[in-house]
Amino acid sequence: MHQMIRTTKEHDGPLMSRIVAGAWRMGDWNWSAQERLRWIEQCVELGVTTFDHADIYGDYTVEQLFGEALALAPGLRATIQLVTKCGICLTSPARPAHRVKHYDTSFEHIVRSVEQSLRLLHTERIELLLIHRPDALMDADVVAAAFTHLQLQGKVEHFGVSNFSPAQFELLASRFPLVTNQVELHPLHLAPLHDGTLDQCQQRRMQPMIWSPLAGGRLLTGDDAVAVRVRAALGAVGARHRVSVATVAFAWLLRHPSRPIPVAGSRRIEAMREAVTALDMSLDVQDWTEIWTAGSGHEVP
Ligand SMILES: NC(=O)c1ccc[n+]([C@@H]2O[C@H](COP(=O)([O-])OP(=O)(O)OC[C@H]3O[C@@H](n4cnc5c(N)ncnc54)[C@H](OP(=O)(O)O)[C@@H]3O)[C@@H](O)[C@H]2O)c1
Repeated sequence: MHQMIRTTKEHDGPLMSRIVAGAWRMGDWNWSAQERLRWIEQCVELGVTTFDHADIYGDYTVEQLFGEALALAPGLRATIQLVTKCGICLTSPARPAHRVKHYDTSFEHIVRSVEQSLRLLHTERIELLLIHRPDALMDADVVAAAFTHLQLQGKVEHFGVSNFSPAQFELLASRFPLVTNQVELHPLHLAPLHDGTLDQCQQRRMQPMIWSPLAGGRLLTGDDAVAVRVRAALGAVGARHRVSVATVAFAWLLRHPSRPIPVAGSRRIEAMREAVTALDMSLDVQDWTEIWTAGSGHEVP
């Protein structure tokens, strides 16, 4: 079993597993509560003990689906860590008051959203809460007040953000200690390597969480020219290391010195195992660059 890690040393960040399981797609799986429980338990058996949620996943249904499964095995909660998010407001039959998709980072919305997440997840506290997307109308003092309130009440232990630019991160971090930025990164989306996002993580000794590490499956099944080229590069590296294309994709992320924490989104335990296998390998700089080159479409300057 691989050791747990802290997302940041500076703020005594939350303990998380080195591969996190993402629950975003659980609403599409059409599983019974027992099948959902089995998936959670099998992830835990692999050492994937941290689970990533958001209030809006599955059109506001996934937290409840997960919570129902957890309720079947009350002892399980003590062995896992829960991450959830708030701040996006979808137009949905579940939220008839929303006229337009928008963001809300008001004190009331953040607190209400967390209280709802706690109810649905059948838990008294969440290890990590993220603001899901940068909000042009975000008042950093207001968000900090909401975070402080939730922390004092014991409802949330740690706080972070998702999809924030370095400047947006610095603004909120100037008011409240943040432990991570959850961003999209894979060989088909290289921007965080070059726009300061991962530099900031390294500067702060803060580990980013990485969403859609397989580009939502496009790395494995995409038939567009870039996906085909990247898959060939991942396959060539995989053949040398005798591991699968997916394992190489995870190893490519893990090679970055900011020590990313990938959030894997598969319903198949075998696919979660392919992610965990990547923790035991290390790509050399030429392996890594071969994949970067396939993604960017040109060699390094
Ligand atoms: N913060 C944000 O804004 C944000 C945005 C998006 C996602 N997220 C988080 O990130 C998590 C992961 O995102 P993701 O689900 O897009 O991750 P992903 O791991 O990149 O993609 C998962 C998808 O790829 C498919 N897949 C995996 N291995 C495959 C293989 N070998 N061959 C073919 N298809 C394969 C899976 O299908 P199978 O299930 O059939 O394997 C699933 O549909 C989410 O659950 C969520 O927690 C966060």
